[in-house]
Amino acid sequence: MKLAFIGGGVMAEAILGGVLAAKIAEPGAIHMGEPRPERRQALTKQYGVHAFSDNLMAAHDADLVILAIKPQDLPSVFRQLKGHLSPQQAALSIIAGAKMSTLSQGLGHPAIIRVMPNTPAQIRCGMSLWTCSKEVGRPLRDATKAILGTVGVEIHVEDEKYLDMATALSASGPAYVFLFIEALIDAGVFVGLPRDMARTLALQTVLGSTRLVMETGKHPGELKDMVVSPGGTTAEALQILEHRAVPGAVVEAVNAAYQKSIKLGQG
Ligand SMILES: NC(=O)c1ccc[n+]([C@@H]2O[C@H](COP(=O)([O-])OP(=O)(O)OC[C@H]3O[C@@H](n4cnc5c(N)ncnc54)[C@H](OP(=O)(O)O)[C@@H]3O)[C@@H](O)[C@H]2O)c1
Repeated sequence: MKLAFIGGGVMAEAILGGVLAAKIAEPGAIHMGEPRPERRQALTKQYGVHAFSDNLMAAHDADLVILAIKPQDLPSVFRQLKGHLSPQQAALSIIAGAKMSTLSQGLGHPAIIRVMPNTPAQIRCGMSLWTCSKEVGRPLRDATKAILGTVGVEIHVEDEKYLDMATALSASGPAYVFLFIEALIDAGVFVGLPRDMARTLALQTVLGSTRLVMETGKHPGELKDMVVSPGGTTAEALQILEHRAVPGAVVEAVNAAYQKSIKLGQG
């Protein structure tokens, strides 16, 4: 299959790496539209793809045109591509906040796929939620599933409303988890652990706990209760976290991100 990336930044490179590793497309069948000459050169040298300064040349002939630019660069890309996509092509956008209707109008094209990925896609451990317009045929839906599957877990939804919710939970989510990990490491140092040891303990604890929830299928609350012995150390710590309303703050934070995502989508 032929792919075109418009924007050759961090997220485009993550997806490109997954696609090439899974041999979904050959390097020669991948075009990148990217304004910076040194970035074009680096992508060509490292991956063997074709890189163009002209987005229209990059998009020409591709089955899927993947928009991986920042939201502020979307108007200029619309000006370049509007009306130039053929009925066989679909546009796949990973741009936060860009709604299906905005993309369809801006490109003058009805076949649109909207994806909300996250940064762990860089290590093929990402989470992507996606939806598409009815004009996207089965082969390109299957291709989208396969492409996103190369960089992690993907879930297709019919209703676009879930994209704002995923923005708040899984797309912004790595930042919440990094904040918690950082605090855990600092806490380890506070009680006397050397920093590198605190880092190893914190990271393995977060990784192991996540895998335990996934692999046992148990409710996190049940697994939490198994760690808490009456009158013990964990109960002491959890009492502080509850007292400081950490669970409620997490809900409030995710809801604030959700509301912001809706507002940004309204322009
Ligand atoms: N990072 C995340 O956590 C995350 C998660 C979900 C979704 N997203 C979305 O993914 C998109 C890309 O994010 P990113 O982190 O990969 O950004 P990035 O690294 O800044 O990549 C954007 C790339 O697009 C290039 N570009 C700028 N104007 C262009 C134009 N007119 N035509 C073609 N290319 C152009 C940029 O080049 P220059 O550097 O020269 O400007 C840059 O290489 C964003 O819309 C973001 O909302 C990101």
